[in-house]
Amino acid sequence: MVRTIAVFNLKGGVGKTTLAVNLGAALQLMGKRVLLVDLDPQHDLTMYLGVNPAQLKGVEYFITRDLKFAEIVRSYNHRFDFLPSGKKLRDLEDLMSALYVNYKKMNFLIRDAFLHIEQQYDYIIFDCPPAGGQLTINALSYVQDVFLPVQCQFLALRGSKKALFLIYRVKTLFNPALRLGAVIPVMYDPRNRLSSVIVEKLHNAYGDYLTDTKIRINVSLAEAPGFGKTIFDYKPFSRGAQDFKKLAREVAEMPAGELRLEQSLSHLVDSSVQHVMAGLRANNA
Ligand SMILES: Nc1ncnc2c1ncn2[C@@H]1O[C@H](COP(=O)(O)OP(=O)(O)O)[C@@H](O)[C@H]1O
Ligand SMILES: [Mg+2]
Repeated sequence: MVRTIAVFNLKGGVGKTTLAVNLGAALQLMGKRVLLVDLDPQHDLTMYLGVNPAQLKGVEYFITRDLKFAEIVRSYNHRFDFLPSGKKLRDLEDLMSALYVNYKKMNFLIRDAFLHIEQQYDYIIFDCPPAGGQLTINALSYVQDVFLPVQCQFLALRGSKKALFLIYRVKTLFNPALRLGAVIPVMYDPRNRLSSVIVEKLHNAYGDYLTDTKIRINVSLAEAPGFGKTIFDYKPFSRGAQDFKKLAREVAEMPAGELRLEQSLSHLVDSSVQHVMAGLRANNA
Protein backbone atom coordinates (compact mmCIF):
# COMPACT_ATOMS: atom_id res chain seq x y z
CA MET A 1 0.00 0.00 0.00
CA VAL A 2 1.21 3.48 -0.84
CA ARG A 3 2.49 5.77 1.89
CA THR A 4 1.75 9.43 1.31
CA ILE A 5 3.83 12.08 3.07
CA ALA A 6 3.71 15.88 3.12
CA VAL A 7 6.95 17.62 4.09
CA PHE A 8 5.70 20.78 5.71
CA ASN A 9 6.74 23.69 7.87
CA LEU A 10 5.41 27.23 7.74
CA LYS A 11 8.96 28.54 7.66
CA GLY A 12 11.10 28.70 4.53
CA GLY A 13 14.74 27.68 4.52
CA VAL A 14 14.30 24.95 7.13
CA GLY A 15 15.35 22.13 4.81
CA LYS A 16 12.01 20.89 3.44
CA THR A 17 13.13 20.52 -0.16
CA THR A 18 16.46 18.97 0.82
CA LEU A 19 14.52 16.48 2.94
CA ALA A 20 11.94 15.65 0.27
CA VAL A 21 14.54 15.00 -2.45
CA ASN A 22 17.10 13.08 -0.45
CA LEU A 23 14.68 11.05 1.66
CA GLY A 24 12.94 10.09 -1.59
CA ALA A 25 16.26 9.17 -3.18
CA ALA A 26 17.27 7.10 -0.16
CA LEU A 27 13.96 5.22 -0.18
CA GLN A 28 14.49 4.48 -3.87
CA LEU A 29 17.91 3.02 -3.06
CA MET A 30 16.08 0.64 -0.71
CA GLY A 31 14.07 -0.58 -3.70
CA LYS A 32 10.96 1.53 -3.15
CA ARG A 33 8.99 3.13 -5.97
CA VAL A 34 9.04 6.85 -5.23
CA LEU A 35 7.18 9.88 -6.59
CA LEU A 36 8.15 13.42 -5.49
CA VAL A 37 5.72 16.29 -5.99
CA ASP A 38 6.78 19.93 -6.12
CA LEU A 39 3.91 21.91 -4.58
CA ASP A 40 5.95 25.04 -3.95
CA PRO A 41 5.38 27.87 -6.48
CA GLN A 42 9.02 28.82 -5.89
CA HIS A 43 9.92 25.65 -7.85
CA ASP A 44 12.93 24.74 -5.69
CA LEU A 45 12.47 20.97 -6.03
CA THR A 46 11.91 21.30 -9.78
CA MET A 47 15.07 23.34 -10.23
CA TYR A 48 17.01 21.08 -7.85
CA LEU A 49 16.26 18.19 -10.22
CA GLY A 50 17.45 20.18 -13.21
CA VAL A 51 14.17 21.23 -14.82
CA ASN A 52 13.52 24.83 -15.84
CA PRO A 53 10.02 25.77 -14.66
CA ALA A 54 9.69 28.86 -16.88
CA GLN A 55 7.76 27.40 -19.82
CA LEU A 56 6.69 24.25 -18.11
CA LYS A 57 3.22 22.79 -17.67
CA GLY A 58 3.64 21.20 -14.30
CA VAL A 59 1.75 19.57 -11.46
CA GLU A 60 -0.91 22.30 -11.56
CA TYR A 61 -2.21 20.84 -14.84
CA PHE A 62 -2.50 17.43 -13.21
CA ILE A 63 -4.34 18.82 -10.19
CA THR A 64 -6.88 20.54 -12.46
CA ARG A 65 -6.87 17.44 -14.72
CA ASP A 66 -6.16 19.50 -17.82
CA LEU A 67 -3.30 17.13 -18.60
CA LYS A 68 -2.74 13.48 -17.88
CA PHE A 69 -0.23 12.31 -15.28
CA ALA A 70 1.95 10.73 -17.99
CA GLU A 71 2.20 14.05 -19.79
CA ILE A 72 3.73 15.77 -16.77
CA VAL A 73 5.70 13.21 -14.79
CA ARG A 74 9.50 13.16 -15.20
CA SER A 75 12.10 10.66 -14.21
CA TYR A 76 15.29 11.32 -12.29
CA ASN A 77 17.79 9.05 -14.04
CA HIS A 78 15.23 6.22 -14.19
CA ARG A 79 15.36 5.97 -10.40
CA PHE A 80 12.43 7.92 -9.06
CA ASP A 81 9.67 10.00 -10.62
CA PHE A 82 8.77 13.59 -9.91
CA LEU A 83 6.03 16.02 -10.82
CA PRO A 84 7.67 19.41 -11.44
CA SER A 85 5.83 22.63 -10.69
CA GLY A 86 5.20 25.02 -13.56
CA LYS A 87 4.73 28.74 -13.80
CA LYS A 88 0.94 28.48 -13.36
CA LEU A 89 1.11 26.82 -9.95
CA ARG A 90 1.12 30.20 -8.27
CA ASP A 91 -2.17 31.09 -9.99
CA LEU A 92 -3.80 27.83 -9.03
CA GLU A 93 -4.56 28.82 -5.45
CA ASP A 94 -6.46 31.91 -6.62
CA LEU A 95 -8.22 29.84 -9.24
CA MET A 96 -9.20 27.28 -6.65
CA SER A 97 -10.97 29.83 -4.50
CA ALA A 98 -12.60 31.47 -7.52
CA LEU A 99 -13.78 28.35 -9.31
CA TYR A 100 -14.80 26.10 -6.47
CA VAL A 101 -17.60 27.56 -4.44
CA ASN A 102 -17.91 24.16 -2.84
CA TYR A 103 -15.16 24.30 -0.24
CA LYS A 104 -15.08 20.62 0.39
CA LYS A 105 -14.57 19.86 -3.29
CA MET A 106 -11.87 22.51 -3.48
CA ASN A 107 -9.90 20.95 -0.65
CA PHE A 108 -9.92 17.53 -2.26
CA LEU A 109 -8.58 18.43 -5.70
CA ILE A 110 -5.21 16.85 -4.96
CA ARG A 111 -6.75 13.79 -3.37
CA ASP A 112 -9.11 13.23 -6.29
CA ALA A 113 -6.28 13.50 -8.80
CA PHE A 114 -3.76 11.35 -6.95
CA LEU A 115 -6.14 8.54 -6.01
CA HIS A 116 -5.95 7.43 -9.64
CA ILE A 117 -2.15 7.06 -9.78
CA GLU A 118 -1.11 6.32 -6.21
CA GLN A 119 -1.01 2.55 -6.64
CA GLN A 120 1.99 2.89 -8.96
CA TYR A 121 4.17 3.95 -6.01
CA ASP A 122 5.31 2.90 -2.56
CA TYR A 123 5.95 6.49 -1.44
CA ILE A 124 4.51 9.77 -2.64
CA ILE A 125 6.25 12.75 -1.03
CA PHE A 126 4.90 16.30 -1.35
CA ASP A 127 7.27 19.25 -0.95
CA CYS A 128 4.87 21.87 0.43
CA PRO A 129 5.24 25.64 0.23
CA PRO A 130 6.08 27.49 3.47
CA ALA A 131 2.51 28.72 3.80
CA GLY A 132 -0.86 27.51 4.98
CA GLY A 133 -2.72 28.26 1.76
CA GLN A 134 -4.93 26.13 -0.41
CA LEU A 135 -2.11 24.03 -1.88
CA THR A 136 -0.91 23.01 1.56
CA ILE A 137 -4.45 22.35 2.80
CA ASN A 138 -5.05 20.21 -0.28
CA ALA A 139 -1.92 18.17 0.34
CA LEU A 140 -2.75 17.72 4.04
CA SER A 141 -6.31 16.70 3.13
CA TYR A 142 -4.88 13.80 1.13
CA VAL A 143 -1.77 12.44 2.83
CA GLN A 144 -1.41 10.00 5.73
CA ASP A 145 1.67 11.59 7.29
CA VAL A 146 3.12 15.02 7.83
CA PHE A 147 6.89 15.19 8.24
CA LEU A 148 7.93 18.35 10.01
CA PRO A 149 11.61 19.28 9.69
CA VAL A 150 12.78 21.44 12.59
CA GLN A 151 16.08 23.22 12.68
CA CYS A 152 18.22 22.60 15.73
CA GLN A 153 17.80 26.14 17.02
CA PHE A 154 16.23 27.56 20.12
CA LEU A 155 13.45 29.37 18.29
CA ALA A 156 12.44 26.35 16.22
CA LEU A 157 9.92 25.26 18.84
CA ARG A 158 7.98 28.50 18.71
CA GLY A 159 7.92 28.48 14.93
CA SER A 160 6.43 25.02 14.72
CA LYS A 161 3.40 25.73 16.89
CA LYS A 162 1.40 27.39 14.11
CA ALA A 163 2.24 24.51 11.80
CA LEU A 164 0.89 22.04 14.37
CA PHE A 165 -2.34 24.02 14.66
CA LEU A 166 -2.84 23.93 10.91
CA ILE A 167 -2.21 20.19 10.78
CA TYR A 168 -4.69 19.71 13.61
CA ARG A 169 -7.36 21.80 11.88
CA VAL A 170 -7.05 19.93 8.60
CA LYS A 171 -7.18 16.64 10.50
CA THR A 172 -10.40 17.56 12.27
CA LEU A 173 -12.05 19.18 9.25
CA PHE A 174 -10.97 17.18 6.21
CA ASN A 175 -8.72 14.23 6.92
CA PRO A 176 -9.28 12.31 10.16
CA ALA A 177 -6.57 9.80 9.23
CA LEU A 178 -3.91 12.52 9.03
CA ARG A 179 -1.15 12.10 11.57
CA LEU A 180 2.07 13.75 12.50
CA GLY A 181 4.38 11.05 11.19
CA ALA A 182 7.71 12.47 12.22
CA VAL A 183 9.45 15.55 13.53
CA ILE A 184 12.92 15.49 12.04
CA PRO A 185 15.81 17.48 13.52
CA VAL A 186 17.75 19.03 10.65
CA MET A 187 20.86 21.18 10.28
CA TYR A 188 22.24 19.63 13.44
CA ASP A 189 25.70 20.91 14.27
CA PRO A 190 27.61 18.40 16.40
CA ARG A 191 30.41 20.93 17.00
CA ASN A 192 28.04 23.38 18.64
CA ARG A 193 27.87 22.75 22.39
CA LEU A 194 24.24 23.89 22.42
CA SER A 195 23.08 21.31 19.90
CA SER A 196 22.54 18.50 22.36
CA VAL A 197 20.66 20.87 24.69
CA ILE A 198 18.39 21.86 21.83
CA VAL A 199 17.75 18.26 20.81
CA GLU A 200 16.83 17.52 24.41
CA LYS A 201 14.32 20.36 24.35
CA LEU A 202 12.93 19.10 21.05
CA HIS A 203 12.60 15.69 22.61
CA ASN A 204 10.74 17.08 25.60
CA ALA A 205 8.32 18.82 23.26
CA TYR A 206 7.78 16.19 20.60
CA GLY A 207 8.54 12.94 22.38
CA ASP A 208 8.33 9.90 20.18
CA TYR A 209 7.46 11.97 17.15
CA LEU A 210 11.09 13.05 17.04
CA THR A 211 13.15 10.75 14.84
CA ASP A 212 16.31 9.21 16.24
CA THR A 213 18.06 10.27 13.07
CA LYS A 214 19.32 13.83 12.98
CA ILE A 215 20.30 15.39 9.66
CA ARG A 216 23.61 17.09 10.33
CA ILE A 217 24.80 20.29 8.71
CA ASN A 218 26.73 19.18 5.68
CA VAL A 219 28.05 21.42 2.94
CA SER A 220 27.59 18.67 0.35
CA LEU A 221 23.83 18.80 0.96
CA ALA A 222 23.89 22.51 0.15
CA GLU A 223 26.05 22.02 -2.94
CA ALA A 224 24.17 19.09 -4.51
CA PRO A 225 21.26 21.13 -5.98
CA GLY A 226 23.76 23.19 -7.97
CA PHE A 227 24.71 19.99 -9.80
CA GLY A 228 21.14 18.76 -10.15
CA LYS A 229 22.05 15.65 -8.19
CA THR A 230 20.79 13.90 -5.11
CA ILE A 231 23.32 13.60 -2.31
CA PHE A 232 23.87 9.95 -3.30
CA ASP A 233 24.95 10.88 -6.81
CA TYR A 234 26.87 13.97 -5.74
CA LYS A 235 28.77 12.77 -2.63
CA PRO A 236 27.75 9.20 -1.76
CA PHE A 237 30.16 9.02 1.18
CA SER A 238 29.27 12.35 2.75
CA ARG A 239 27.69 12.76 6.17
CA GLY A 240 24.56 13.96 4.39
CA ALA A 241 24.31 10.70 2.45
CA GLN A 242 24.84 8.67 5.65
CA ASP A 243 22.17 10.63 7.52
CA PHE A 244 19.55 10.31 4.79
CA LYS A 245 20.18 6.57 4.45
CA LYS A 246 19.66 6.19 8.18
CA LEU A 247 16.52 8.33 8.08
CA ALA A 248 15.07 6.28 5.21
CA ARG A 249 15.57 3.07 7.20
CA GLU A 250 13.84 4.65 10.18
CA VAL A 251 10.95 5.88 8.00
CA ALA A 252 10.53 2.50 6.31
CA GLU A 253 10.29 0.83 9.70
CA MET A 254 7.58 3.16 11.02
CA PRO A 255 4.22 1.46 11.28
CA ALA A 256 2.15 2.58 8.32
CA GLY A 257 -1.55 2.21 9.01
CA GLU A 258 -1.71 2.90 12.72
CA LEU A 259 -0.87 5.66 15.11
CA ARG A 260 2.60 5.79 16.54
CA LEU A 261 3.31 5.11 20.18
CA GLU A 262 1.40 6.98 22.80
CA GLN A 263 3.64 8.85 25.14
CA SER A 264 3.43 11.12 28.10
CA LEU A 265 2.27 14.62 27.32
CA SER A 266 3.28 16.05 30.66
CA HIS A 267 6.57 17.45 29.47
CA LEU A 268 5.18 19.44 26.60
CA VAL A 269 6.39 23.00 26.53
CA ASP A 270 3.01 24.64 26.85
CA SER A 271 -0.63 23.79 27.10
CA SER A 272 -1.63 24.95 23.63
CA VAL A 273 0.93 22.69 22.00
CA GLN A 274 -0.22 19.99 24.39
CA HIS A 275 -3.78 20.41 23.19
CA VAL A 276 -2.76 20.15 19.57
CA MET A 277 -0.52 17.17 20.14
CA ALA A 278 -3.31 15.38 21.98
CA GLY A 279 -5.61 16.02 19.04
CA LEU A 280 -3.07 14.72 16.59
CA ARG A 281 -2.73 11.60 18.63
CA ALA A 282 -6.45 11.10 19.15
CA ASN A 283 -8.06 8.01 17.78
CA ASN A 284 -9.15 8.43 14.21
CA ALA A 285 -12.43 6.63 14.60
N1 LIG B 1 21.63 19.57 6.48
C1 LIG B 1 21.99 20.64 5.76
N2 LIG B 1 23.28 21.08 5.77
C2 LIG B 1 23.65 22.17 5.06
N3 LIG B 1 22.82 22.88 4.29
C3 LIG B 1 21.54 22.52 4.22
C4 LIG B 1 21.05 21.38 4.94
N4 LIG B 1 19.72 21.24 4.68
C5 LIG B 1 19.40 22.25 3.84
N5 LIG B 1 20.48 23.02 3.55
C6 LIG B 1 20.52 24.23 2.71
O1 LIG B 1 19.72 25.22 3.35
C7 LIG B 1 18.97 25.95 2.40
C8 LIG B 1 17.48 25.79 2.68
O2 LIG B 1 17.12 24.43 2.51
P1 LIG B 1 15.82 24.00 1.70
O3 LIG B 1 15.79 22.53 1.67
O4 LIG B 1 15.76 24.70 0.38
O5 LIG B 1 14.70 24.59 2.68
P2 LIG B 1 13.13 24.87 2.42
O6 LIG B 1 12.67 23.94 1.34
O7 LIG B 1 12.51 24.61 3.75
O8 LIG B 1 13.03 26.30 2.03
C9 LIG B 1 19.37 25.41 1.04
O9 LIG B 1 20.39 26.23 0.53
C10 LIG B 1 19.89 24.03 1.36
O10 LIG B 1 20.84 23.58 0.40
MG1 LIG C 1 11.67 24.37 -0.39
